[in-house]
Amino acid sequence: MMPRSRAADPPRDRKGALKTLWRLIRPRWAQAASLSLLLTLTAALGQVFPQFVRLVIDDLIPRGEGRLLLLVGAGMLLFYLLTAALGYAAMYFSYAFTQRVISEVRLEAYGKLLRLPLARFTSERSGSLVSRVVSDVNALETMIQSGASRLLGQLFSVVFVLAVLFATDWVLALVALAIVFAMAFFTGVYQGPLRESARRIRSRVGELTATATEAIGNIGVVKSFANEGLEYRRFERDNDRYVAGNLERRKQVGLMEALVGLSADLGLAAVLVLGGWLVVQRGLTVGELSAFLLYLGNLIGPVRSVMFFNNALQAGLAALERVDELLHDRPEQEGGRTAVPHGGLSFHGVTFRYPGGGAPALRGLSFTVAPGQTVALVGPSGAGKSTVAKLVSRLYDPDEGEILLGGFDLRTYALSALRGRVAVVPQEPTLFSGSVLDNIRYAKPEAADDEVREAARLANAEAFILGLPQGFDTEIGERGVKLSGGQKQRVAIARAILKEAAVLILDEATSSLDTESEAVIQDALAGLFERRSRVTTLIIAHRLSTVLGADAILVLNNGQLVERGTHRELVARRGLYWALQRLAQEDGRRRAEVLGD
Ligand SMILES: Nc1ncnc2c1ncn2[C@@H]1O[C@H](COP(=O)(O)OP(=O)(O)O)[C@@H](O)[C@H]1O
Ligand SMILES: [Mg+2]
Repeated sequence: MMPRSRAADPPRDRKGALKTLWRLIRPRWAQAASLSLLLTLTAALGQVFPQFVRLVIDDLIPRGEGRLLLLVGAGMLLFYLLTAALGYAAMYFSYAFTQRVISEVRLEAYGKLLRLPLARFTSERSGSLVSRVVSDVNALETMIQSGASRLLGQLFSVVFVLAVLFATDWVLALVALAIVFAMAFFTGVYQGPLRESARRIRSRVGELTATATEAIGNIGVVKSFANEGLEYRRFERDNDRYVAGNLERRKQVGLMEALVGLSADLGLAAVLVLGGWLVVQRGLTVGELSAFLLYLGNLIGPVRSVMFFNNALQAGLAALERVDELLHDRPEQEGGRTAVPHGGLSFHGVTFRYPGGGAPALRGLSFTVAPGQTVALVGPSGAGKSTVAKLVSRLYDPDEGEILLGGFDLRTYALSALRGRVAVVPQEPTLFSGSVLDNIRYAKPEAADDEVREAARLANAEAFILGLPQGFDTEIGERGVKLSGGQKQRVAIARAILKEAAVLILDEATSSLDTESEAVIQDALAGLFERRSRVTTLIIAHRLSTVLGADAILVLNNGQLVERGTHRELVARRGLYWALQRLAQEDGRRRAEVLGD
């Protein structure tokens, strides 16, 4: 049995996230190591100033060496020019390093997102999935950037300065060490809560993004119901939750920072008092004490930064967890078969339930369409007809039973091979921003212009396209808002014609059209059939005039096959098909009466 593509792996833990981070950094270990060296060097240069101070106070001033002071000044000038240059290099390289790592994560996450099974997009709002690629990756960037630019240098400073302090005066150094421990203690206490609130904030960003994306993606519907206010309030509610999450974290961060800061200040005071006493009683020099205090400043600054980095770290790790979950989500499963031998299509006992949906949309459905045959699928709305189309392109997989194409289970094909050979004209075609030409070419990106135009001609779309302001080059805007339903449908048919399909599925291609456009679409379909006479075809229809020429008619109801036969046989049976047919005729008569008046 093939693994089901529906189940997502369970949420991954922090260790998994760190493993992913390491996997991303490992290929650039040499770069990371040189960067660490550079950062360490810059940090080391930052530790020289107290030595200048000690030299001036303890040696030069007491000996009255005014001229040497100038020399020291010149030395310091050179020294700081070097420091500035190295600081600039370290900053730039850390930035470049971060950008490379992050851009790789972003691309990998987006590639993964595109390859998730359709069902995954119902278990999480798509806006939230997108936020994992965009805003979570950005939060991760902040963490890596502050880590790569400063953390290493600061850690080095802490260790180096502690060593110098112990060499200078071990009693004072012990006090300094106690300060570091107190600061680390308070940081540790807040680690867990900070992580939790960071997680909450990340998921609220996801919700906020999803709410906005859904409203803007359906802006036409929002406007036609005049529901801008409603949507605004929804966004406002999510925004409030996001702000509340941030404030909550701020409280924690604020308390943590205050306690860490307090430890540092009290420690400094203690060293000053104790150091003063040591100068008076134990012969510690004033220069030594000054250098010590300066070093202590050099210790506390970095320790504070390292502790505060914890904040960025927790936020970054919470974001990384969400990115990592996406990276480890199970993609669509596919087989290795790349060629479809023929267009024969058969369903064997197929049962399918939509993820999260209640009753099965298809129950034990079996039927066979021989290569090159045309079979019509009819039935009342909600019977499961469109579901059949979705299963054939493997947008979903059956829960039970199997679907064979060319004699092999759909799941044994490579997805690109399978979908390249199955053309669906969907009930509601979707167009992208771009020209008409590009929209038709979407079915076969490598198609030449002439090929695309020919497909449009066969789809009976050429005339209306040439009537557009820039003909084939006319931009048709997001979702083709400037085209009518019938025009969109003809673009969709042109797409299907362009594809070298073995199986063609027309899902109510004429459903929402008036009789005039229906005739036009019928002509378009005739063009399609003319070009691909040996294509296995499934015509889904509730308007029955379209199915008369089919080799066989299957009648679906409630996800089950209830009747099958030719038009004549089914009418003679006086079953569901006959009833639907009569309804359609009545509908036609009424329409004729209205139009006839
Ligand atoms: N994406 C979906 N998620 C959950 N249920 C769905 C989805 N699409 C369709 N359904 C349900 O599956 C059943 C069959 O739908 P469909 O195949 O679209 O019917 P038809 O095309 O025959 O009108 C219906 O009950 C419908 O509500
Ligand atoms: Mg349908």
